[in-house]
Amino acid sequence: MRTQEESGRRLKVSFILNGRRVEVLTRPNARLLDVLRDDLGLTGTKEGCGIGECGACTVLLDGEAVNSCLVLAGQVEGREVVTIEGLEQPGPEGPRLHPVQQSFIDKHAVQCGFCTPGMILSAVALLAKNPHPSREQIREAISGNLCRCTGYVSIVDAIEEASRRLAAELAGDRAGEARPGHGGAV
Ligand code: FES
Ligand code: FES
Repeated sequence: MRTQEESGRRLKVSFILNGRRVEVLTRPNARLLDVLRDDLGLTGTKEGCGIGECGACTVLLDGEAVNSCLVLAGQVEGREVVTIEGLEQPGPEGPRLHPVQQSFIDKHAVQCGFCTPGMILSAVALLAKNPHPSREQIREAISGNLCRCTGYVSIVDAIEEASRRLAAELAGDRAGEARPGHGGAV
């Protein structure tokens, strides 16, 4: 069974985007970046260089940070993509920003904001694999994301802060699960 098909000069691609299945008819040579911005209107993902050097177009593909300007639409068939628009999380009082997003705000790691979505997604990918990175490991993880404004110190501070917040949230969740009536051990 074919999972992709060309219909005239159009390519049909089906994938999971921010937790929901989407199906798009696009140009056969479209990049994932084009599908997100032009076909789906998700303009949080930015185009800087278009050649894989600035990281402004970073998204998560099956959990890995990738440059969406270097990924062809056909390559995401059946896979899972997360963009900056998909990081919002449910909270007790309604949707809230992801801890990495909130830390960028609180640590003043955003100036013009052009690099910010890609920077945040690189940080999310890092923290999923390494919840307690050193500053050196953070710098390494964002080495493909260029920022012309901040000098990077506040960005590294923000990712460190996000690491602390995520650890605190995890500890809170575990404590909640362990309390009677919360589905944990009694
Ligand atoms: S726009 Fe993709 S890396 Fe620069
Ligand atoms: S905040 Fe302007 S490029 Fe990073």
